[in-house]
Amino acid sequence: MSWQKACSMEELKKERVKLIKGGIVVLLHEGHVYAIDNRCPHMGFPLHMGSLKNGILTCQWHHARFDLSSGGTLDPWADDLIKYETDIQDEQIYVNVARATGDRATYHMNQLQKGLEQNLSLLIGKGVVGLLTIDTKHVRDILHAGIRFGTTSNNAGFDRGVTTLVAMVNVLPKLHLRVQVQALYQALVMVASDGANRAPKRKLTPLTTRADMEERWVDWYTDCTNVRDAQGAERILLSAMHTYSKEALAQLVMRAVTEHYYMNDGHVLDFTNKAFEAIELCDDAYHSDILASLPMIVTTAERSEEKSRWRAPVDYYTLVEKALEDIQSADVNPSSPLDDGALLTALLESQDGSSIQAVKQVIMQGVPLVNIARVITLAAATRIVHFSMQNDFDDWNTVLHTFSHAHAVHASLQRSHDPSLIRAMMHTVVSLSLDSFLNIPAAKRPVAAELDDDELHHFLALFDTQQPVEVAAQWALSYSDKHADTGPLFATIGEAMLREDAGFHTLQMYEAATAEYDNWNSFDNDFAKRAKDTLLVALVRYVAAHSPTPRELPRFADIAWRLHRGEKIFEDA
Ligand code: FES
Repeated sequence: MSWQKACSMEELKKERVKLIKGGIVVLLHEGHVYAIDNRCPHMGFPLHMGSLKNGILTCQWHHARFDLSSGGTLDPWADDLIKYETDIQDEQIYVNVARATGDRATYHMNQLQKGLEQNLSLLIGKGVVGLLTIDTKHVRDILHAGIRFGTTSNNAGFDRGVTTLVAMVNVLPKLHLRVQVQALYQALVMVASDGANRAPKRKLTPLTTRADMEERWVDWYTDCTNVRDAQGAERILLSAMHTYSKEALAQLVMRAVTEHYYMNDGHVLDFTNKAFEAIELCDDAYHSDILASLPMIVTTAERSEEKSRWRAPVDYYTLVEKALEDIQSADVNPSSPLDDGALLTALLESQDGSSIQAVKQVIMQGVPLVNIARVITLAAATRIVHFSMQNDFDDWNTVLHTFSHAHAVHASLQRSHDPSLIRAMMHTVVSLSLDSFLNIPAAKRPVAAELDDDELHHFLALFDTQQPVEVAAQWALSYSDKHADTGPLFATIGEAMLREDAGFHTLQMYEAATAEYDNWNSFDNDFAKRAKDTLLVALVRYVAAHSPTPRELPRFADIAWRLHRGEKIFEDA
């Protein structure tokens, strides 16, 4: 029975406002009867305490105004009212307590779309909460909405928001439902903010090239990006997508991305890798928008070979180019084994470019590139483990950039054996060498200890204190030593991160560290165990260094969650 008796007309005429079961308020205004959810759609303030004048209900808290007849708000940041049907029979008022929202998934998708278009965090939160709680299979619809908006509303190209969105979709299985909401919400808020006040992207048309010219697209594309011609590059890419495989497309793009050094502190390669992960995750209909968004990021980027620290006192550019020439002219044996420990030491001890030679040697010995990339990424995580708290706070970003770039190269190589990624590996190696001063003095690696109480809420509580870098890292290490299943630990780290204003870099760190950790899980030896500890400690140190924050951003998703579940937000409601 969805129709319920509310009260008599006589009663309502006397009181004007009547609260009934289910948190619904019945109002009489200018001779009309209305029934609405008593919780303001903005932040839940009781609307029976609001003021009614001239057909408009005004909430007492932030003064959002609502047209009672339609339920629509005059203040889009507050969202529309939830209305219920009413009927009057024999002077008795009845309310249909079933919400008249039509198809619920469509309703919440509209909220999400509106939130993205108008850059309204609350609506994004409500859309995500609504869709995820109907069915987690809607993750794909949420991803599609974010990718479509992020690649078409923003003429700056495949940006940090869409990159973060793909990263958060990747880590969802590690998180509890409520934290999954935060992960998608925080990424989508970034997508909306990237697109705010930007001109939309106008997609170009493909070329109608003769079939025998198609093999030239790889050269044409790199020629265009070299001279920062985004439009020419876009037309070539949109043409190639119809005949090239996904792997060939990725190789075409990566060749141009690696032609120049460590562009935008490695972000260009990182974003490009995420774009190709998005292509794997999304339906075909989204691929051309994703591809069309790539030329802009590569043609507008800063190139590190133009920076003095890449040229002096050590001329890394010349060292890398020479090593690449040697590799190209070498006879490489396939599938040699790798001494992981020796390479790791060489990477970490180098301050003069000797690590370039070490990597060159193992490539020329025929070690699979993906195995080398895995150890390079581990070296970058080790830099974070030993990052000194005496460094400038912004330098956390410097070591994060190297780690994130290394992971993107590793992930790209896991998808496809692309020789142009050798260049990218060398760029990480140089960046690792440049970062060596950030380990002087080196922070001590934590050692596992006996925990008095290993309940994870104690671990979470540590993040309430200012930068609990060492204590949290030791706690996590001690927990992982004792428990074979580290899933709950990583879920708690995710929770600690996402109840904060996490920011792009911290979210990147979580995704990269957990993916690399999982990778080492497939090996069963002492080196792999130490590698996993390194990744865990690096992750916890990074998250702890960025905690706590004002926790402003997660609030709207939290409110959306509580409103959706019908919770009272104010005690006096
Ligand atoms: S306007 Fe109603 S709670 Fe903010």
